[in-house]
Amino acid sequence: MPPLPTFQDVLFARRTIAPYLPPTPLHHYPQLDALLGARVFVKHENYQPIGAFKVRGGIHFLAHLPEEQRARGVVTASTGNHGQSIAYAAQLFGVRAVIVVPEGANPVKVEAMRAYGAEVVFHGADFEACKEHCLTLEREQGLRFVSSGDEPRLIAGVATHTLEIVEALPEVEVIYVPVGGGSGAAGATLVAKSVNPAIRVVGVQASGAPAGFLTWQARERRTAPIRTFAAGLATGQPFMLPQQILWQHLDDFVLVDDDAMRQAVRLYLEKAKTLAEPAGAAPLAAALQQREQLAGKTVALILSGGNISPDELRDCLR
Ligand SMILES: Cc1ncc(COP(=O)(O)O)c(C=O)c1O
Repeated sequence: MPPLPTFQDVLFARRTIAPYLPPTPLHHYPQLDALLGARVFVKHENYQPIGAFKVRGGIHFLAHLPEEQRARGVVTASTGNHGQSIAYAAQLFGVRAVIVVPEGANPVKVEAMRAYGAEVVFHGADFEACKEHCLTLEREQGLRFVSSGDEPRLIAGVATHTLEIVEALPEVEVIYVPVGGGSGAAGATLVAKSVNPAIRVVGVQASGAPAGFLTWQARERRTAPIRTFAAGLATGQPFMLPQQILWQHLDDFVLVDDDAMRQAVRLYLEKAKTLAEPAGAAPLAAALQQREQLAGKTVALILSGGNISPDELRDCLR
């Protein structure tokens, strides 16, 4: 297991990504205040150049990849946004990138990966099958496998979203962050607890793919089937590096079902005029679920991504 990233690593990551990614907006929406009975701020990671927070980690990772590994190229498995992040960063640094995606991957994300110059390989039904195939390609082609969760630099990179939140909104009391593999939530807790241990960080996962939640609860590895439409949250196995951080620091962990995420996608459109993908809308769904606990609090919702296909959006609006 690689070493756990530290708060210092996050500060270093911020310096690395600064020339490439300006801070994303943190907007206050009175209409969401009314809905939640709290002061609600949305961290707009859907405004990143790839439409999702993952690009922070991808750039930090590729920027510090040893020259010999850059020359060989990288391979990774993705349901979409992590792949886009690696593709985007690889193009920035002139590195070959192979992204293995499930057969039914979101066409919006696949097209974007190709547009960033990545080679996209379709393999298997889900993320777990893709990961297996990556290891084969790593062996056969000498590529550097990039785990979407167990890479300290990815965690330190994505954690910069929470650094921006606590700087812009030092009085924040609760932060909701979605959990797939757990890198974003691990980063969020790392920063929040280093700056002010009183900030509550709440992880949010799909009830249809609860491996991360079950692992956090049991404090040991648990797997679970994947039965959610939220691609960003569709992980069947936990990543133990972010889990170790979540075991230490995460205050609460909430499960939301697909219908609650559909409703949150609609609410973001209506109340904040912004496009969220289901995983990105999960924190709003969770906050609605915990509305009673939030009365009068200052709350930040990490809207982690907006890469939703027209079909998925139609499904949410129905
Ligand atoms: C939009 C979006 N939100 C949340 C997540 C979950 O992030 P993590 O795997 O860091 O837990 C992902 C993962 O790809 C994502 O794409």
